Order: sequence, then C-alpha cells, then structure tokens
Amino acid sequence: MKNFADKKILITGGASGIGKLMAEKLASRGAVVVIVDINLDAAQNVCSSIKRSGGKAYALYGDMGNVESLKKLKSEVSSHGINIDVLINNAGVVFGGEFEKIPLEKHLLTSKINVDGLIALTYIFFDDLRKSKDSNIVNIASASGFVGLPYGTSYAASKWAVIGFSESLRLELKERGISNVHVTTVCPGYISTGMFSGVKAPLILPWLRPETIVEKIIYGIERDCAFIKEPFMVKWVDFLKGVLPLGVFTSINKFLGVSTSMTHWKGR
Ligand SMILES: NC(=O)c1ccc[n+]([C@@H]2O[C@H](COP(=O)([O-])OP(=O)(O)OC[C@H]3O[C@@H](n4cnc5c(N)ncnc54)[C@H](O)[C@@H]3O)[C@@H](O)[C@H]2O)c1
Repeated sequence: MKNFADKKILITGGASGIGKLMAEKLASRGAVVVIVDINLDAAQNVCSSIKRSGGKAYALYGDMGNVESLKKLKSEVSSHGINIDVLINNAGVVFGGEFEKIPLEKHLLTSKINVDGLIALTYIFFDDLRKSKDSNIVNIASASGFVGLPYGTSYAASKWAVIGFSESLRLELKERGISNVHVTTVCPGYISTGMFSGVKAPLILPWLRPETIVEKIIYGIERDCAFIKEPFMVKWVDFLKGVLPLGVFTSINKFLGVSTSMTHWKGR
C-alpha cells in the first residue's frame, strides 16, 4: 500500500494507546479511519479530534470478545457505504500475575479477545479486503509471541497464536495466488502506553515509544512487510532460540531480566 489517501482503514482498540496514535497518523495522511473499541466514549473523542483537524473518521462500538457484536459492526460499516482496505487488528488485553492466582475467566477472556476476536474480524471483513485493489491485514502480536513470558502465560499464549494465524494466512494467500491482500505481523517489545505499567523492561529490550512503533508499523504497511519486529533485538530471538541449547537460552533470558520482567506488572 503506497498511498493512504481515501483508503478505508479499520483499527480495533483505536480509542487509546498505539491504536489511537495509528488512527491519528493515518487520518492525517488522508485515510478514512474507522475506530472500533469497546470504549465507545473514548473512541468518539478520538474521532472528534481527528475531524477537528480536518480528517475523516468514524467511531463504532465493537467487542472483540463477542462475535455477534463483530457481525453487527460489519453491517454498520457497510451501511456507511464503506469497504475496508486495511484491517488493523490491534485491540488486546493482558492480565499479569502468578498463573493460578489470575482468575480462570481472565485467562480465557485473553484468548477470546486477543485470538478468537482477531480471527473472527479477519473472517468477517475478508470479502472487503479481497474486493479492494490493494489491501492489508495488520495483526498486532508481540515479542512475547516468540519467547515464554513468565507471569504473562495466557497473554504470551495468545500472541503465539496470533503469530501462527497471521503467518499461516500470509502463506496461504501466497499459495492461492491472492496477491492483492497483504498480511503483516507486528511483534513489538514493551511499549510505554500503560498496558504494561509496573514492568521492568529488560536492558536489551528497552521500552518503545508509541510514536516509534507506530512509525514502523505505518512504514511496514506501506511496504507490505511480512514482519515488523522491534526493538532491534526482537529480530534475533528466533535465530538465537534455534541455535542455542534450550538451557543456555533460558539462562540468558533470566540473566537479561526477560523472565522476570512481568513480576511487578500492574497494568492500568
Ligand atoms: N503496550 C505494550 O507494551 C505492548 C507490547 C506488545 C504488543 N502490544 C499489543 O499492542 C496492542 C495495543 O496495545 P496498547 O498498549 O496500545 O494497549 P491499550 O490498552 O492502550 O489499548 C487497547 C485498546 O483496546 C481496547 N479493547 C480492549 N478490549 C477490547 C474489546 N474486547 N473489544 C474492543 N476493544 C477492546 C481498549 O479499550 C483500548 O482502547 C495490543 O494488542 C497489545 O497486546 C502492546
């Protein structure tokens, strides 16, 4: 996707954090952004501020944990005459802590929102994306989709699943000769949005500024990149995991503070 002007871009979780920033940046580049969030008031605030700056935006309710809500969302988007060109699956939740002390409902809600909702929304908007001349599916996974994340078990599990889904879909579309739909998997380390407040970021994975990762994501969409891995060390995790004995890899993670980073997670 070389040009965002008049492209219809749906962003889940667009009411705060990097979703909000992506909505603002893409609207400033001429896109029509559809901000979807469970927090409709906050989504409407983002929408109004974009409109005040001369951009085009809609704010719509959508609960990624409820497939019926996502089907309703599709009807609403269509009723505005909008065919989505870029789907940014960004909404996500995390519940940190010792595995058995986190209520089971929260573990299961994590995969419902982060995985089931993401797959469902991609399915529901897939016809739109195929109809578009040049379209993108952008799935926000995480660096924790490559490594085990103690005290963030179900969150890491959900992001491993997102990477598996996203990469499989990208390869399937290639196999099937569907060249107009591009899939990008985004794997960031910790970002200073508040979602992971309390965390002690490992030295080799310093906190990412929301602006930095959003710039990289937009650059990645423009170039139809398969993966965006930030900060730099994330690019090496797969390789190191492949070549190092498991015990050595685990010890390095512990030494660098990756394994203990979530110990003091508070979130919002
Ligand atoms: N913050 C980080 O350190 C970090 C690191 C790697 C990946 N990520 C991923 O990036 C994405 C955005 O993270 P963020 O830091 O901007 O988070 P955030 O908490 O600031 O924003 C998440 C948004 O998702 C919305 N949301 C939550 N549940 C929803 C639901 N059921 N349906 C619809 N919307 C819902 C929230 O209302 C919020 O607006 C997430 O997928 C997250 O897992 C974040």
